[in-house]
Amino acid sequence: MELKGKKAVVFGGTSGIGLATTRQLAAAGATVVAISRDPSKAGEPPAGVTFKGCDVRDGDAVAALLDECAPYDILISAATGGSRAAGPFLEMDMQGYKNSFDKLWGYANVVRFGARHLPENGAITLVSGTPARKCKPGQIALSSVGSAVEAMVRALAVEIAPRRINVVSPGFIDTPMVAAQGAERVEMYKKMTAGHLIKRPGTADEVAQAILFTVTNDFVTGTTVDVDGGWLLS
Ligand SMILES: NC(=O)c1ccc[n+]([C@@H]2O[C@H](COP(=O)([O-])OP(=O)(O)OC[C@H]3O[C@@H](n4cnc5c(N)ncnc54)[C@H](OP(=O)(O)O)[C@@H]3O)[C@@H](O)[C@H]2O)c1
Repeated sequence: MELKGKKAVVFGGTSGIGLATTRQLAAAGATVVAISRDPSKAGEPPAGVTFKGCDVRDGDAVAALLDECAPYDILISAATGGSRAAGPFLEMDMQGYKNSFDKLWGYANVVRFGARHLPENGAITLVSGTPARKCKPGQIALSSVGSAVEAMVRALAVEIAPRRINVVSPGFIDTPMVAAQGAERVEMYKKMTAGHLIKRPGTADEVAQAILFTVTNDFVTGTTVDVDGGWLLS
C-alpha cells in the first residue's frame, strides 16, 4: 500500500507507540485521525493529523466516531484500554485481572465497528506484547491479554480477507506508559533487558516502523511481527 494520499485512523495515537505511528504515517503523506480519551495531554497535533477524543471501551462512541471518520484505508489501535494487573496470579486481585482485558474489548470495538468502512485493500494493525509468548514472573495478565489479541487477529484475518489484519508485538519500549523517571527509569530498563540480546528498551519509532510495514506490505496478513530486542530468544 502506498501511504501518500491515504487516510488512517489511529486509536491510542496521542502517546508512545501510537503517536510515533501517527507521525510516521503523516510524514509518509497520509492524513491521520489520532484518537484517545484525552488528546489535549498531547498538545498540538502534527501537520496532517487531527486529534479526537473517544474511549475505546465505549462501543457506541467508537462506532459513531468511525462512521464520522469514514471512508479511510488504515485502522490501527495501540490503545492500552485501562489498568493492567501485575504480580503473581495466586495473589492477584481478580477484578484487576479482569480489568486488564479492557485492552482486548477496546480492540474488539475498533475492529467490529471499523472494519466495515475499509476498502478491499484496507489494513488493520493491533499491538500485543512479548509476554503473550514469553513471560517474566508477574506478567500473567499481559500474557493472557496479548495471547488473546494475537489469537483474535489470526481468526479475524480469515474472516475479513481480502482486507488484512496483523499484530505487532513489542518488547520493553521506552514510552510514557512507564511512570518511573530519571535514574530509577534507567535502572529499571537496565534490569529488565539485562538478559536480552539487545540490552536496552526499544523506541516507539522502532515499533511504529513495524506497524507501517504491516500496513504497506499487501502480502502480509494474520501474522505477528516481533520488535523485542531478542527477548523471545533470551
Ligand atoms: N511500552 C511498552 O513497553 C509496551 C510493551 C508491550 C506492549 N505495549 C503495548 O503497546 C500499546 C501502546 O503502548 P504505549 O507504551 O505506547 O503506551 P502509552 O504511551 O501510554 O500510550 C497509550 C495510548 O492509548 C491511549 N488510551 C489508553 N486507554 C485508552 C482508552 N480506554 N480509550 C482510548 N485511548 C486510550 C492513551 O491516551 P489517553 O490516556 O488520552 O486515553 C495513549 O494515547 C499498548 O497496547 C501496550 O499494551 C507496550
